[in-house]
Amino acid sequence: MNQIEIMTPGKIIVGCGCSSRWIEEAIKAEYKKIVVLSVGPIWPMIEAQLSEAAEKGLKIKKLDYTLVGEPTTAYFEELRKEAAAAKPDAVLGVGGGSVLDIAKLLAALSDRKTPIEKCFGKGMLEERKIGLFCAPTTAGTGSEVSPNAILLDSADGEKKGIISPFLLPDCTLVDADLTMSLPSKITAETGMDALCHCVEALMNKNAHPIIDTAALKGIELICKNLVKACRDGRNRPAREALATASMLGGLCLGPVNTCGVHALSYGLAGKYHLSHGLANALLLPEVMRFNRPVCLARYSLIARVLGMQVGKDNERNANMAIDYISQLSVQCGIPQHLSEIGIKATDIPEMADMAMNVTRLLQNNPREITREDVINIYENIY
Ligand SMILES: [Fe+2]
Repeated sequence: MNQIEIMTPGKIIVGCGCSSRWIEEAIKAEYKKIVVLSVGPIWPMIEAQLSEAAEKGLKIKKLDYTLVGEPTTAYFEELRKEAAAAKPDAVLGVGGGSVLDIAKLLAALSDRKTPIEKCFGKGMLEERKIGLFCAPTTAGTGSEVSPNAILLDSADGEKKGIISPFLLPDCTLVDADLTMSLPSKITAETGMDALCHCVEALMNKNAHPIIDTAALKGIELICKNLVKACRDGRNRPAREALATASMLGGLCLGPVNTCGVHALSYGLAGKYHLSHGLANALLLPEVMRFNRPVCLARYSLIARVLGMQVGKDNERNANMAIDYISQLSVQCGIPQHLSEIGIKATDIPEMADMAMNVTRLLQNNPREITREDVINIYENIY
């Protein structure tokens, strides 16, 4: 078996309506001042919690996340100044993956001067003295349980990662009620991102039985609930299943991580600024097909958890699993071809070069991917 290292938040609270429980956790930890980072549409949803926290003696400083698109280093520095002025004991992030990534970085860095650019890479943060709570309002990135944060470097426009145990929250609150009003398109794209985290962990070179268990349960929950949540956003059991699956996908990221799909999606998102979930969704079935020769048994496990008639022929089982996932994406209304979303065929070589730079993920892929393979994969979904 592969060696893996599993790092998780200090506490994970899961269940509809649980998101206000950061208040009791903050009081227990004797925090007095909390910076709360969130976005426009979410504030009304957490207004009652913020009033309750204030009544219980906590001093709250609201920080409004106003950026559209990927968070940049420059934007982070702006927010860091505001957060630092409040001298918080803890940071609470309530939002999608970008908001949580920034909240994590604010907790680690708002009491120090280290430029954010010096923190890129693995293990570059020294420590974290400020408490950290995270409550996701989308079901996809898994940022609430991962030690990762991604920023666009304002200097060169490249997406860069900061990976550190100090980015793991002290307490994560997975409350599906916060996801009920997500529009269908975001539900679909973020759900497919979470599905990628699970499938890529399962087919990964660094796969491990502990993480396989989380990945397979995540795959089952997403495959059985994503279409339901896309068609009826108020379907609470479906939302709860997706929030849980997203967290399971996030738990796959630290110890095993993603591979070919996420690597190739950097080529698409880097050049065309597609949403992360859409880029991954476009690629998932085709990268699964590419990896099929070395993943027959693994894909059969997927077919089994989806309740398909699995036989002894793993090739047939694997094809059923790929077809199911491909159909799921169609049923969620996600485009299936690069040409449908305005990507130019002539850009494929440049996108392939970008993908080939993502060696940290390409090296996790169970089958070696050459530049020619990347071009073929992009062309097959064009
Ligand atoms: Fe992702």
